[in-house]
Amino acid sequence: MSSYKIIDHEYDVLVLGAGGSGLRAAVGLSEAGLKTACISKVFPTRSHTSAAQGGISAALGNMGEDDWRWHMYDTVKGADWLGDQDSIEYLCKEAPKAVIELEKYGVPFSRTDDGKIYQRPFGGMTKNYGNGTVQRTCAAADRTGHAILHTLYGQALKHNTEFFIEYFALDLLMKNGECKGLIAWNLNDGTIHRFRSHITIIATGGYGKIYYSATSAHTCTGDGNGMVLRAGLPLQDMEFVQFHPTGIYGHGTLISEGVRGEGGYLVNSQGEKFMERYAPKAKDLASRDVVSRSIALEINEGRGVGKEKDHVHLHLSHLDPKIIEKRLPGISESSRLFANVDVTKEPIPVVPTVHYNMGGIPTNYKAEVLTLNGSEKTVPGLMAIGEAACVSVHGANRLGSNSLIDLVVFGRAAAKRASELVRSNMPHESIGESETEKCLERFDKLRNANGENATAELRVNMQKTMQSKCAVFRSEKTLKEGVDEIRKTYDGMGSLSVKDKSLIFNTDLVETLEFDNLIRQAITTIESAYHRKESRGAHAREDYPKRDDEKFMQHTLAWYNGKETKIDYRPVHKNTLTNEVQYFPPQERVY
Ligand code: FUM
Repeated sequence: MSSYKIIDHEYDVLVLGAGGSGLRAAVGLSEAGLKTACISKVFPTRSHTSAAQGGISAALGNMGEDDWRWHMYDTVKGADWLGDQDSIEYLCKEAPKAVIELEKYGVPFSRTDDGKIYQRPFGGMTKNYGNGTVQRTCAAADRTGHAILHTLYGQALKHNTEFFIEYFALDLLMKNGECKGLIAWNLNDGTIHRFRSHITIIATGGYGKIYYSATSAHTCTGDGNGMVLRAGLPLQDMEFVQFHPTGIYGHGTLISEGVRGEGGYLVNSQGEKFMERYAPKAKDLASRDVVSRSIALEINEGRGVGKEKDHVHLHLSHLDPKIIEKRLPGISESSRLFANVDVTKEPIPVVPTVHYNMGGIPTNYKAEVLTLNGSEKTVPGLMAIGEAACVSVHGANRLGSNSLIDLVVFGRAAAKRASELVRSNMPHESIGESETEKCLERFDKLRNANGENATAELRVNMQKTMQSKCAVFRSEKTLKEGVDEIRKTYDGMGSLSVKDKSLIFNTDLVETLEFDNLIRQAITTIESAYHRKESRGAHAREDYPKRDDEKFMQHTLAWYNGKETKIDYRPVHKNTLTNEVQYFPPQERVY
């Protein structure tokens, strides 16, 4: 028996994570009268949603004609036909309602002269099934995520969601394949808490920190994904990692696609607007995978800028300074701070930087987690939303501004589904102590680790391996080397050293728990990439340069039990939900 005193709590529903999706779910659940707890390792308004800049997509048609079916087509194409079209239909059809709800909640969107929500052009977003341009991305200047996050936190408080802030979730409480809640550690006073619930909604975000250079915050460690793997469940499509074309060179700080939406363009060392060669129609507003690969090719072929010729320039000094001030204040400040650049006069040095994980916890469009052991059965009591989930609307490549809309549409869907499944104050059946003990044994083992390898050293090894071996372009050779190196790094955990043994704000232990989550996701990412022998969306194999729909129009499933990885596949959904739209069959993907 562990020596930890356990504090028990009972809720109808738990939401783990207080970013955009977690807060949107919490608002809906609390509004529906369910006793809801929201558990977060950071203060809610510090969640990574606050870093989302350019906007949230929805076919509102405020700046010219638009249709949710065009949005659906763009998303299917952007996903390189790996997305589930039933989920994509749900996303795009519900998007306008979800944005108007945000407006009513109080999100301070930028406005057109006639008072409508301002919408800007974004990559891969078109009119009439690829036959024209559209302005679909609703923006609050270039601080859209920040505006949404603060508004939703206010709404959650208004509706009496109970917050457990700076609590680090350790593991799910699973009994006979059902989720019964979770165990968490209160970082402030060192106490251990057992949360019982009828439904646990994982909204822990992405795991960008498996890479060395990412736009992701240090907190983006995919803790929910780690917990799901330890519960014996698979993660889906982990090989699809998005590189945002424009991270600030040397820092990784995001420079919004909104810059190119407002008319900015990329230039190589020869002063050439090179995107015209790679995407003659969409140019700088092609999808992110296409733009990132084009930049990588320019650099590889010696046309990069700077002493090392290892980045390119993003120009916006031709834009009206008043527009820059009004619509792009955030990136102007970041460019000054991190690159010492005045964007009204000089270009920003940029390079493709890890930004988003298309893969994650497999769910259906109602946000229910799937077991996928040969079928699509749901896991009772468990849901996942946001970047932690793979629903799958982004398939092999996400379009810019489809992330914020994913958060609110599926956060809302999870709240709706949970309200159908759970009645307020339903009793909780008893569970034994063994699951709690198992979870605390792992915690105790990591806390008392007295070996030789510091977590920070193992983490940097993992990040550098992922950066060099599982990058924009991949091959059998790099991926095989990467798999071996990552395995070696994981083995290093056998002799881990955690110096601080205390329980109060022990950042050494927090980072170790986060690393344990990260390394499992690094393993499943690189092994999934190794096994996908084709190029699709963000997964570009130099040795298999073509998309192979016959063999690989399938979702990858990866299990990792701490020793071995198991890889399997499941078919992409080809059905739509209603007869308002037809299945979009695969085409050649050109921009
Ligand atoms: O470029 C951006 O503003 C990022 C948006 C997104 O990832 O959706």
